[in-house]
Amino acid sequence: MRSLPSLAELEPSGQRVLVRADLNVPLDDGAVADDLRLEASLPTIRALREAGARVVLMSHLGRPKGEVREELRLAPVGARLAELLDAPVTTASDVVGDDAHRVIDQLGDGDVALLENLRFDPGEKANDPEFARALAALGDAYVNDAFGAAHRAHASVVGVPAQLQPAVAGDLLRTEVETLSHLLDEPEQPFVAILGGAKVADKLGVIDNLLTRVDRLLIGGAMCFTFLRAQGADVGASRVEEDQLETVADLSSRAGDRLVLPTDVIAASAFDADADHKRVTADAVPDGWMGMDIGSDTVETFAGMIADARTLLWNGPMGVFEWAAFAAGTRGVAQAVADCDGFTVIGGGDSAAAVRSMGFADRVSHVSTGGGASLELLEGEELPGIAALHRAS
Ligand code: 3PG
Repeated sequence: MRSLPSLAELEPSGQRVLVRADLNVPLDDGAVADDLRLEASLPTIRALREAGARVVLMSHLGRPKGEVREELRLAPVGARLAELLDAPVTTASDVVGDDAHRVIDQLGDGDVALLENLRFDPGEKANDPEFARALAALGDAYVNDAFGAAHRAHASVVGVPAQLQPAVAGDLLRTEVETLSHLLDEPEQPFVAILGGAKVADKLGVIDNLLTRVDRLLIGGAMCFTFLRAQGADVGASRVEEDQLETVADLSSRAGDRLVLPTDVIAASAFDADADHKRVTADAVPDGWMGMDIGSDTVETFAGMIADARTLLWNGPMGVFEWAAFAAGTRGVAQAVADCDGFTVIGGGDSAAAVRSMGFADRVSHVSTGGGASLELLEGEELPGIAALHRAS
């Protein structure tokens, strides 16, 4: 992997440094519900402030589809960031308009501003060169620290670095890329990957790329039922992606005994938090019942393999962990990952939320801030945001 240009290449004192961050965080009743991405963005912001930069942050929030949506304004995110930074963060009420210019003109060295939600402008998603030029005009240097958005070829990710140099990677982006690339390049063995989540189609690329690298591939979550079905199991009314059965059968035969599927699952009579449920063998889910979590035997098997791992990757919950009756599998895996002495990586998205809500986050080596971005990187793709920085340097 080519090394990325870093903050050390900037001379930021007195400069307006335009920082693309991923501050796309869940909001609950107008307040930030999970600080992971904000906390992860702090080292770069702090380093720039200490070096005397005038920091101009930009991010998307949600998917407003090119229109102003009041509930997706970044003000609450700016307020929470200010608390975490222990310094004021002035949030502009527009993206590249008069207010953004006014706020930036008033910045002193070490101060921080935040532009309004980039996706309020249709030019962001379209990577419109005019919009990228308007953003680039707001800074003297560009930093991409938005790992979670590095797989999006949007204006703030690829358009701005084409027009504004120096263009470098922030500390978060560099750490994420180095950590996840390490899993592909030189993992210490045994390397165990645990994949879960609802949609098998989203994970096929990762499975394909990991297949030759891992010693064990443990599959849970709703996606395990497509694998079980491909092996001829009766999976009742569990979610099966019929159009992926052939691909999954091929992956299974290539994986051989490295692939480990559940032997028991918790099945429910309906997709409901309070539905009747019982533990059944994974290849005999009764008609009309659906698998909602892995069972206790499977948790024990998975935990034993996790304990032996020197390198471990976990992406995707083992069941519908938001509902108490179906959370034990995800909790059991989270506990085993926390207890593992090896190098442990949580690949973003729901599994990152699960380890955080279960209180295990500080017992794993790395919790990725990227959902889709970490999957694409683990598929072996060069992310557009990374390619743009290489081109700019
Ligand atoms: C994410 O939450 O994965 C990133 O912020 C990217 O968001 P997006 O999927 O809406 O592009």
